[in-house]
This record gives sequence, C-alpha cells and structure tokens, in this order.
Amino acid sequence: MRTETPPTVRLEDYRPSDHLIDRVELDVRLDPHDTRVSATLALRPNPAGRAHAPLVLDGDDLTLLGLELDGQALAPDTFRADASSLTLHAGPQRPFTLRIETRLDPTANTRLMGLYRSNGVYCTQCEADGFRRITYFLDRPDVLSVYTTRIEAERAAAPVLLGNGNPVEAGAVAGTDRHYAVWHDPLPKPAYLFALVGGRLDRVAKGFTTMEGRAVEIAVYVEPGKDDRAAYALDAVERSMAWDERAFGRAYDLDVFNVVAVSDFNMGAMENKGLNIFNDKFVLASPDTATDTDYAAIEAIIAHEYFHNWSGNRVTCRDWFQLCLKEGLTVFRDQEFSSDMRSRAVHRIAEVRNLRARQFPEDAGPLAHPVRPKRYAEINNFYTATVYEKGAEIVRMLRTLIGETAFRAGMDRYFADNDGTAATVEDFLKAFEAVTGRDLARFAEWYERPGTPRVAVSGSYDAAAKTYRLAFRQTRPGAGADAPPLVIPIRLGLVGTDGPLIDAASGRVEDGVFVLDSAEDTLIFENVAAEPVPSLFRGFSAPVRVESALDAAARLTLLRHDPDSFNRWEAAQRVALGLMTAQVRGDAPEEAGADDFVAALGVFLDGEALRDPAFAAQILALPSEGDVADEIGTEIDPDAIASARRDLRRRLGAGLRARLLTLREELAEPAGTPFSPDASAAGRRALRNAALDLIAAADAETGTALAQAQIAAATNMTDRLAGLAALALLPGEAREAALTAFAERYADEPLVLDKWFAIQAMIPEDGTVARIRRLQGHPAFAMTNPNRVRSLVGSFSLANPTQFNRADGAGYALVAETVLALDGTNPQVAARLMTAFGPWRRLEPGRRAQAESALRRIVATQGLSRDVADIGTRSLA
Ligand code: PHE
Ligand code: ZN
Repeated sequence: MRTETPPTVRLEDYRPSDHLIDRVELDVRLDPHDTRVSATLALRPNPAGRAHAPLVLDGDDLTLLGLELDGQALAPDTFRADASSLTLHAGPQRPFTLRIETRLDPTANTRLMGLYRSNGVYCTQCEADGFRRITYFLDRPDVLSVYTTRIEAERAAAPVLLGNGNPVEAGAVAGTDRHYAVWHDPLPKPAYLFALVGGRLDRVAKGFTTMEGRAVEIAVYVEPGKDDRAAYALDAVERSMAWDERAFGRAYDLDVFNVVAVSDFNMGAMENKGLNIFNDKFVLASPDTATDTDYAAIEAIIAHEYFHNWSGNRVTCRDWFQLCLKEGLTVFRDQEFSSDMRSRAVHRIAEVRNLRARQFPEDAGPLAHPVRPKRYAEINNFYTATVYEKGAEIVRMLRTLIGETAFRAGMDRYFADNDGTAATVEDFLKAFEAVTGRDLARFAEWYERPGTPRVAVSGSYDAAAKTYRLAFRQTRPGAGADAPPLVIPIRLGLVGTDGPLIDAASGRVEDGVFVLDSAEDTLIFENVAAEPVPSLFRGFSAPVRVESALDAAARLTLLRHDPDSFNRWEAAQRVALGLMTAQVRGDAPEEAGADDFVAALGVFLDGEALRDPAFAAQILALPSEGDVADEIGTEIDPDAIASARRDLRRRLGAGLRARLLTLREELAEPAGTPFSPDASAAGRRALRNAALDLIAAADAETGTALAQAQIAAATNMTDRLAGLAALALLPGEAREAALTAFAERYADEPLVLDKWFAIQAMIPEDGTVARIRRLQGHPAFAMTNPNRVRSLVGSFSLANPTQFNRADGAGYALVAETVLALDGTNPQVAARLMTAFGPWRRLEPGRRAQAESALRRIVATQGLSRDVADIGTRSLA
C-alpha cells in the first residue's frame, strides 16, 4: 500500500527492454502457505536496448530465497532485492542464466493477482502485471519467452495439474504423497499470458481437428459435481474454433485447449495461452440456473478468450498503451461471432445498448481517455469500456470504410507480418494501408482523443428541382479548434413516407456509405420524387451522437419502413427518449405524441411480433434511465427521469394491454417442450417477458398474478427470474414471499444467489439501502468474492439510479464504505466499483455535492491502494 502520488507511465517514454529472456524454466511446488517457485531464466542483452545497463527485474510482494548466476550464488554486493524489484548492478554483456527462488503464500493472496487459491483450487492471474508476484521478471509484454513449467502438488489436494502449452510428462514424486506434471509451450509469449492450475476438478472434453489437420483435445474443467453444467461452454469452444477458421482463416496451434472455471475472479476471463481461466459465471450453465442472457454471455466470452489466441497471443502488444490492439479487435471478433450464431440485427442492438450504457458516460465524464491512452498511473484501471467497446467500434468503422474483402485481406496481412511479435496500433493500420494503398493516418485520429463526437444533420427537400440535400457538421466536445476532423463512415439511405424505398442516387454514396471527413459537408440526391425521411448511421456505423431535427412522425415512418432493422429500433428509441426528456424538462405535455407512439407500436406488434420475437422484444424495451440521463446531459435529477420512464411504461402497458396479453399466450411454449438456449427460443422468452414488464407497469394486480403464475410454472431460470424481476417492482407481501422462496430453492447455488442479491439491490425504493446493508450480513455474501460484491453493490451503483443517487447521500455512503472496506484486500475490484461515481458532475447541485463529499472521503483515507487513489484523483480532477 502506498499513499504518495503514484508515478505516471507515459506512452512517449517507451523504450525497448535492455535485456531479453529467451527461455523460462519454472518449477512450482504448490503448498497452501509455502509455495516455492524456482525460475531459471535464459537472459541476454537486447541489441535494441542500452549496452551495459543494469538488470532490473520487477517483483511485487515477493520473498527471495535464492539467487544464482550461471550456477554460482551471487555475492551480496552485486545485487539488491526487495519486495518490488531485483537489481543486478552490472548485467553480463553476454547470454547468461539466472536462477531465482521465491516463496509465496497463495492462500493469503486476496488480490487475486499472481498465484492464489479459489475454493481450494490453485490458479493464477498474470495480466497485466501479476507474474511479478510469482517470480522476479521482466514483466512487460514486449519480452517474449518460451516456457517450460513443472508443477508439483500433493496428489489428493490437486489431482489435476495444468499449464500453458502441451503436456510433456507427469508422474509421482517418489517416496511422497506428491505428484508433478511438466508442460511446455513452444510459442514465445509475454509473462502476462502465463498460467497454471492445480486442484480437484471435473473434466468434460471433446476432440477437434483443425483445418490444418491438427488433432486438438478441448477440455473444460469445473468444480467437482458441476460437470453437467460445462457442456454449453465446451460446445462454444468448438464453435469458436470452427468459426475463426472460416471467418479469419485462423487455426488453433497446440494439441490441447483447456478452460478452467474458478469462483473467485476479478474479471470475466483470461486468455492465457492454451489455458484460459474463467470466472465460473461465464462457464457454468444449466436451464435451471442460467438465463438466456447468461448463455449468450458464456458463448461470447468463450469466443472472446479463444479468439485472443491470435489477436493477443500470437500477435501481442508492445506495451499496455496498445491494449486496444488486442481488446478492441477481439471484442469486434467476438461480436461478429455472436452475430453469426444469433440474429445480427438483434445483436447489434445489444452492442449499441451496451456502448451507450457504459462507454458514452465514461467518455463524457472525468475518467474519459483515448482508446489508446497516453499515460496511466495504474494499468488495471484501463480495462475500460472505451478500450474494449469503442476500440471494437473503430475496427468496425475500418471495415465499413474499406469493405469486407479488403478488411479480410488486411487482417491476413496483419497476422502474417506481426506473428510472434509485440505490435502497436500503427502496425495494425499499416497492414490495411498495405492491402488497400490508402493512407489511414487521418482515420488513426479515432485512437487519439477522448469524447463522443457529435454529428448534426439537417435535410431539405426542393420539390421543384426534385433534389434532397443533407448537410452534415461534426464537432468534438472538449477538442480544441485545432483538432482535425474525424473520418466518419455514415451508412445511410432515404425512405419514402408512404412506404416504398426512395431509390435516389448521390455520386458520393458508395455501397450505401458516405464518408464525412471534413468539419462540414453536404450531400445532394437527384431525382427524388417526394420528400423522404433520411435513415442515418444505419447499423450504428459510427460511435457518435447524432443530432437531427426529425419529428416523431418521421421517426415512426422509419420504424415502419426502414429496411435497416437497427434504425427501425433506433427510431422507436428516439421517439421514446423524446417523450421522456420532454416530461423531465417540463416541456409541453406530449399527450398526442405518446398516443401516436402507442399506436405505432401496436401496428408493429400486430404485423411482426411473432415473425421476429427477439427483435420485437428490443422494440418494446424502452431506453434506460441512464440513456435518458445521458441525453439530458446536465443537472440530472434521477427521480424525475425515473418517474418519466415509469409513466411511459405505464402508458404502453395500458395502451397495448390486450395485445400483450394475447402475445403472452401465443408465445408460451407448449408443455413438455425441451429447453433450448438458442436464439429463437430465447427471443420468444424475451418478448413474453417484455410484455409482462409492461403489463405489470400499468396494472399491479394483473402483473402480480401473472408473475406469480410464471414463477410457479417456470421450467428455466430466464422465466423464473423475469417473474421475480417483475414482482420486485411491486412492493408488498407477494414480492417478499417470492424472494424468500427463491433464496430457499437456490440456497446452495452461489451464482443464482447473485441474481437474487442483484434483483433486490435494484429495487427503486427508499428501503433498498437498508435492505442491502442487511444482505451484506447474509451468510451467502462474502466480500472476498468479486461476483458477490458486484451482484449486491455493483448492481446497486450501476443499475439503481434513484437509490444510488438518493438526495440524502445514503446511496453514495454505502458504496464509498464498500470501496474502502474492499480496498485493503482487493484494490482492483474496489477501484472498479468506485467508477460508478464517474458521472457525478452532471448531477443537479444537491446530489453533486453529496457525491463529491463521498468521493473526497474516500480520497482522504490513509493508505489507499494505487488503484483507488488513481480513480479518486482522476474523478475529482
Ligand atoms: N484479457 C482479459 C480479456 O479477455 C481481461 C482481463 C484483464 C482479465 C486483466 C484479467 C485481468 O479481456
Ligand atoms: Zn480480451
């Protein structure tokens, strides 16, 4: 723990390592409190580094037991070792071998970085800089080594021993109750991709033959007795392997691919070479315990980690400023995979909802940073929605700009040119410049500056000339006048008010895309027979805010007739947003507007609900309170927003009641239908549950009855939880009884109890803070488990805007206390929890003052971790 201002790392200060490590031999003797690690490192001076530089190895919380150079113990005056570094004053100017012995206590490791135990299972987490908690090392992503790992443990405690790469050898340690396994990873990798696992685990497996003819054994390891919940993840690995061959020509490169699920994990999952380690929430699934959303997340995250094998592992990052090089690209790849497995339009909607919910607010608040940051104090705080999700949008825009064929050729080129190296964003763009002959220097500006750009668009029709003009203007909040304009691909078309498509041309729209690359520009369409409605940014072709003066009638035309599904959804969202913001701002009552909206949704449901239920469910799901806050932008009053949203849901529920009730009947699965997590069955459930939500919003009595009946009849977690979520919004006995019954039924299921914690944390009522304090004392709650903390306190801070932002500050106090309580044991999770305060400056003055004083209370605390201090300093800056 340190309190002084942490040193800042700057991109412009990058220089290559003075030394390289070609080979690493690790011998890890696992023990609950006294694990011994012997590391033999084959080092040499880096020709690209400084000559005669001292050798400085990174360490974190290490105890050094022994040190030898080329087999000789080192004289004490030739080196210096402390908990955070090991320095050889004069590193030899020739290749040499260093043997380092360290001692660790994996049981005491509550930070879940380095080697730790989760429910008794030994596991590791090394990204970004956890390897230095195992041994002294050049813990930076541009030092690539070939690893051989021998793992030894008591056989009864850890019958399964896994490492990176391929298994080489295993056996008993003679005369003891211990055994060992040796793993060899032939592909050079940075230390952050190192992993090992030792424990009692069940295994499910299947074979896969790659397009190159390699026989691969895929295995998923889970806690004993949970192997029946691993089948979906196993299947998702297989589909991911096949897809990456088909979509990107990328084959797997080892003989085994292992996935291990652990219950204590700071993030979602980790792409360690050949040995992915997962938060078990993103592996374990059964119809009775996992929702459709869980199944979709498992599929996406399994794919994400698998795809890192190429975008991240075979080609890694030169330094942590390049994090988006692997994360943005890999998110783009997993989004494409999910789109191919499911409905592309519906998936795109989900992606954009997520971007707007998490990335837009981040980019508009004090924690905003470029997709490629220029400096950091704590790298763990930069695994953000901006790096991941906006990073993926940049890759998507690149594909839109150059077209699918050139994009694929550029990806092939990128992998070919950079395989086995640690690359930069420049290397990535260079590959696309090489295959297209285009200069992407201006496009690269997307990586450099924070903030969500705005594009204002206005259209005008000239009936006499039969021309339609679209004028565009881009601005960037916070960017100076000198900031060059961005290159913005705008996918667009014109839609006729009475239905038929307008087939008008403009020479500057190619394959449906217009590229706005100056501050202002105007498009002219010729031969336009009647005034059209413009459909702009189809498929959300760029991560911007669009300002256009289209009225609700024009938007409802798009909802009806736009051939682009995303923009149909967007049109409905914009109308709903307009109605809610008008109410919040106290503008002219929009009675008529709301009626038109209800009528348009009615027509939509009659025509299309049963044809594409998943899409219809998205149309019915109104913008969130966060979306409304984001639209309003300043002086936010969460209570006013919540009441506007409640009113609109009530109107929809009342106005569409008969249709929604019928739909629920029509969508019900006939009794005895076996559960399927596939997109079409999930879509039917989603629409049925969206209908329940609206019906209950308008009529508590009917809502209660329907929800109770649904819970009683549920054959899967999606329906059971949706029933419970509907009841949770209806105060009273029925709710409390249902919550109690749920907790009893799932008393031994931590991942299901997380849902139960979360549902209660999200109740938008005054009693919720007290309820959460009570739940923090529940026997199933544990501050040591990140999933528990996130489900109870994270859901509260991120998904309960009225209660987190209580006017009396009690919500902020609860979260601040939790951040401080957690900081001593797990700073990474504490810091992430604290980011919920990000939007504080945009609140109305009373809440702003409360939030600020909670933040200041945290920052004033002695002995804060670097993680929390960094978020605090930046939040208040
Ligand atoms: N690299 C992981 C991913 O796939 C995320 C991660 C980062 C996990 C740091 C653990 C620690 O996105
Ligand atoms: Zn990733």
